[in-house]
Amino acid sequence: MEKVQGWEVFAMMSLVIISAFVTAVEAQSKSFLINCGTNSSVNVDGRRWVGDLVPDGNHALSSPSIAASTAALSNSSNFGPLYKTARFFTDSLNYTFEGVQGNYFVRLHFCPFSFGNYNVNESSFDVVANGLKLVSKFNVPSEISHKNSNSQSSGSNSSSFFLIKEYILPVNMDVLVVEFLPVKGSLGFINAIEIVPIVDKLFADSISRVGDNSVNLSGRSIQTMYRLNVGGSEVKSNQDSNLWRTWEVDFSYMITANAGSEISTSSNITYASTNDSSVAPLLVYETATTMSNTGVLEKRFNMSWKFEVDPDFDYLIRLHFCELVFNVPKQRIFRIYINNRTAADNFDVFERSGGMNKAYHQDYIDAVSSKSKTLWIQLGPETAAGAAGTDALLNGLEIFKLSQSGSLAYVEPYDSTGNSVGNSKTKILWVGIGAGVTSVVILGVIISFIYCFCRSQREKLSDTKNNSPAAVKKQEPHSLDEETNSGGKMECQE
Ligand SMILES: *[C@@H]1O[C@H](CO)[C@@H](O)[C@H](O)[C@H]1NC(C)=O
Ligand SMILES: *[C@@H]1O[C@H](CO)[C@@H](O)[C@H](O)[C@H]1NC(C)=O
Ligand SMILES: *[C@@H]1O[C@H](CO)[C@@H](O)[C@H](O)[C@H]1NC(C)=O
Ligand SMILES: *[C@@H]1O[C@H](CO)[C@@H](O)[C@H](O)[C@H]1NC(C)=O
Ligand SMILES: *[C@@H]1O[C@H](CO)[C@@H](O)[C@H](O)[C@H]1NC(C)=O
Ligand SMILES: *[C@@H]1O[C@H](CO)[C@@H](O)[C@H](O)[C@H]1NC(C)=O
Ligand SMILES: *[C@@H]1O[C@H](CO)[C@@H](O)[C@H](O)[C@H]1NC(C)=O
Ligand SMILES: *[C@@H]1O[C@H](CO)[C@@H](O)[C@H](O)[C@H]1NC(C)=O
Ligand SMILES: *[C@@H]1O[C@H](CO)[C@@H](O)[C@H](O)[C@H]1NC(C)=O
Ligand SMILES: *[C@@H]1O[C@H](CO)[C@@H](O)[C@H](O)[C@H]1NC(C)=O
Repeated sequence: MEKVQGWEVFAMMSLVIISAFVTAVEAQSKSFLINCGTNSSVNVDGRRWVGDLVPDGNHALSSPSIAASTAALSNSSNFGPLYKTARFFTDSLNYTFEGVQGNYFVRLHFCPFSFGNYNVNESSFDVVANGLKLVSKFNVPSEISHKNSNSQSSGSNSSSFFLIKEYILPVNMDVLVVEFLPVKGSLGFINAIEIVPIVDKLFADSISRVGDNSVNLSGRSIQTMYRLNVGGSEVKSNQDSNLWRTWEVDFSYMITANAGSEISTSSNITYASTNDSSVAPLLVYETATTMSNTGVLEKRFNMSWKFEVDPDFDYLIRLHFCELVFNVPKQRIFRIYINNRTAADNFDVFERSGGMNKAYHQDYIDAVSSKSKTLWIQLGPETAAGAAGTDALLNGLEIFKLSQSGSLAYVEPYDSTGNSVGNSKTKILWVGIGAGVTSVVILGVIISFIYCFCRSQREKLSDTKNNSPAAVKKQEPHSLDEETNSGGKMECQE
């Protein structure tokens, strides 16, 4: 009998171990693609996006909130059908995803449209993922118009009407809760949520800081700020098949774009390290920008890219390189500057990657101070090298923001036209007044509490017989009826 019991225990143990293993593997490979504000699923971008009202057991919604839709946007981007519906909320709303463990891309899709009496221009909300604040007092329309005015002022005539926020989050609790919290009296909305597992390691554990020691990346969450295919055309999400990243063209970020000349190859490129196959699709390495035309001997200028970033964060800058022209080393030697400081000198891509047509990347971390909102990336001549060897090359560029004390959020004081407004002094003043008012209120509450307490004690003493505790009626939570027709009206019940 005892033996049989031993076997049973063993079998049970094995089962538990095997199922735990299977769950872990399953969790690592599961994507969640959510079409918000609808019970219909759509095929977009070569993937199936499940309506958030479809009970599929993989995600849960904490409250029905408001399912909104529009007829206007259907053909305006390849995500058009996905952006026709959104979930609006005037109270906090959670999306909960089960069986999530490991590193994930979390992409939040916002395409503003107004619905009934809900004006997206007045939306303002926070988003928190497993306790990490992603955005704060977020107003999507003003961020979109700010981006459009930035890109138009640098010569691009395209304008965008939607926004995708991308994060890389380590999830270690088997569940991911994405909380949407509207500012009191305001509203928020979300069109789609995309959660894609990152199976391979994308970042080394420690990365060197410009002019300083290494930084340990362990446990830090990341927000993608920019991802560019330098010298080439846009790489669409469905061309980066496992991770579904989008690689923008670099044109509007380059200062004096005609200082660089674009090159490309039709040869086969391979990764310099077999570990790098997820770092970027090979398509990114097939094009590059180099320093002006070969005819010019005196290459005494920098190729410069300028980016607007949030102040007071650390940024990880990833540069993608691949030598497409020269078959021997020492033909192209250059310096890398990040925010006007030398990040690397005597940089020879051929030597570092181990040959021609080898895809290679280099990471740096740099801090942007609280007084600055720009990040400069410059590649320029190596003063030590002769004119012949002085040339630079860049194939791709990514800029990531690193979380700082549990937050990735920065409150941008935009006005409705997308311009930055407000100065920190008035903000501090208002915070000061707020704190003052708050303390007066708290003091008042304490005094009245003491007063009531003393009074009730006195009443208790004087009249103990017909005294029943005052019934405190619990306030009903606000309930919002789900509305699918436009012209719907919010009704709060008190
Ligand atoms: C989902 O859509 C169907 C029609 O396609 C409708 O009958 C049903 O009520 C909808 N369910 C919800 C929860 O909205
Ligand atoms: C959408 O399609 C309609 C007709 O098919 C066309 O008139 C309109 O210009 C298109 N809109 C966009 C943004 O492409
Ligand atoms: C959302 O999730 C957070 C964290 O799990 C929880 O504290 C909060 O009460 C939830 N909110 C709602 C509306 O369910
Ligand atoms: C929202 O703002 C945009 C740009 O300022 C404006 O064109 C649009 O009419 C506004 N929408 C509403 C509903 O107020
Ligand atoms: C601006 O738009 C025109 C016409 O739509 C197009 O031909 C041109 O290439 C665009 N310019 C840029 C810089 O994108
Ligand atoms: C980074 O920090 C983690 C935990 O804080 C530690 O386990 C790991 O060894 C560190 N990595 C490096 C390269 O120092
Ligand atoms: C690239 O690789 C493919 C398949 O591996 C091969 O058929 C082709 O000839 C190669 N092209 C070049 C230019 O080497
Ligand atoms: C690939 O990664 C493994 C495990 O992290 C490491 O041991 C190996 O050295 C890496 N290979 C290269 C070529 O970097
Ligand atoms: C390139 O930029 C760096 C940093 O801004 C600067 O120090 C250097 O002088 C520039 N080089 C040229 C040739 O303009
Ligand atoms: C850094 O270099 C850029 C381009 O040369 C220049 O415009 C900027 O003023 C420099 N910044 C600082 C802080 O020197």
